[in-house]
Amino acid sequence: MTPFVFSTTKSIVSEIGVINRIADISADLKITRPLVVTDQGIVQVGLLQPLDRAFKQQGMEYSCFDRVVADPPEHIVLSAVAYAKQHNVDGVIGLGGGSSLDTAKLVALLANSGEQLADIYGVDAIRGKRLPLILIPTTGGTGSEVTPIAIVTTGDTTKAGIVSPELLPDIALLDASLTVGLPPQVTAATGIDAMVHAIEAYTSAIKKNPYSDLLAKQALTLLSNNIIEATFNGTNLAARQAMLLGACLAGQAFANSPVAAVHALAYPLGGHFHIPHGLSNALVLTQVMQFNLSHCGELYAQLAPSISDSIDLDGSNEQIAQAVIDFIARLIKQLKLPENLAQMGVADSDIVTLANDAMLQTRLLINNPKPVSLDDVKQIYRQAHQGIV
Ligand SMILES: NC(=O)c1ccc[n+]([C@@H]2O[C@H](COP(=O)([O-])OP(=O)(O)OC[C@H]3O[C@@H](n4cnc5c(N)ncnc54)[C@H](O)[C@@H]3O)[C@@H](O)[C@H]2O)c1
Ligand SMILES: [Fe+2]
Repeated sequence: MTPFVFSTTKSIVSEIGVINRIADISADLKITRPLVVTDQGIVQVGLLQPLDRAFKQQGMEYSCFDRVVADPPEHIVLSAVAYAKQHNVDGVIGLGGGSSLDTAKLVALLANSGEQLADIYGVDAIRGKRLPLILIPTTGGTGSEVTPIAIVTTGDTTKAGIVSPELLPDIALLDASLTVGLPPQVTAATGIDAMVHAIEAYTSAIKKNPYSDLLAKQALTLLSNNIIEATFNGTNLAARQAMLLGACLAGQAFANSPVAAVHALAYPLGGHFHIPHGLSNALVLTQVMQFNLSHCGELYAQLAPSISDSIDLDGSNEQIAQAVIDFIARLIKQLKLPENLAQMGVADSDIVTLANDAMLQTRLLINNPKPVSLDDVKQIYRQAHQGIV
């Protein structure tokens, strides 16, 4: 068997209502002055209230940095670190989507270790230790609560990653009571992002391993069976909890068996057109799968029973894999997500720039089951420009 390493968050609590115990959970980690890191959207829908209540009940003072923005730029991370130092906090709680969780990870590190943000980009550049860290996702998407990754916007159209086991939190709390207000389109897009994490982890070329395989399959079962219900009947707590858990399992899978061409082609769409991460993935997903089919038909076919029991398992791997792709194309349509790049304001003439940028994502493209050339990428974007296959 190929040697592999599997790392994940030490403790994960999946329980509706666990947020009400946040003060006790913080105290268990010896946090006495927590900093909550979140964004305005979260505050406006009232998601800070259960934390506020729980801390007040225990007579615990906390501070809150609520100025995270989507795809957090460096200056926001640095402001949050300065805020943490000013308030002399001794633990960090990230509450929100990937943007808030990634910011919280970096604050926990930089407020304690004295390192500079500019020095820690890339893989394993972190030297110091972080403060105790609790992550509470409110979108069923990125899986950031179980990934050793933080992603920062570094330029007008570019993002960079910081990767280190030091960024895994002490504990992740999965509580669907925090996700019932997530708007349908965000639920659908972040749910597709999580499905892509599972699919790309299962077909990843280099680090795929038995743990990531198991997690990817279980993630897909939860995600594909609940995404429609969670999107269109958002108060269904069981469906919401299944999405949170599915996204977390998919996060564990791709943290150890990394994502590939779907993400490589999605990132430039976010960078140039500010298309949200999950939607960018949805817009290129089926085209990339169609491209990869010749090299990983068997693996796609193996995923069929996890994705839907309506997929016919008679036939060749190629036929079953095609049925998987067709099922996902139908799912994206059912979710009423935008279906092509043209609809998102991308012009034919933008494809060359997008393709050149996608080719720079070598850290992702090396994981793709089929080698990808610049011409291939242009062709995939052209297909995505016209719409879902
Ligand atoms: N660390 C990782 O492993 C990892 C992986 C993939 C992506 N990312 C990063 O994560 C970010 C994207 O995260 P995201 O897709 O979760 O979205 P997000 O954190 O950017 O949030 C999107 C919007 O949804 C709102 N929102 C979140 N939860 C809500 C709720 N329960 N109710 C109402 N509104 C809510 C937020 O206020 C925000 O306006 C990007 O920066 C991306 O690069 C990180
Ligand atoms: Fe993603």
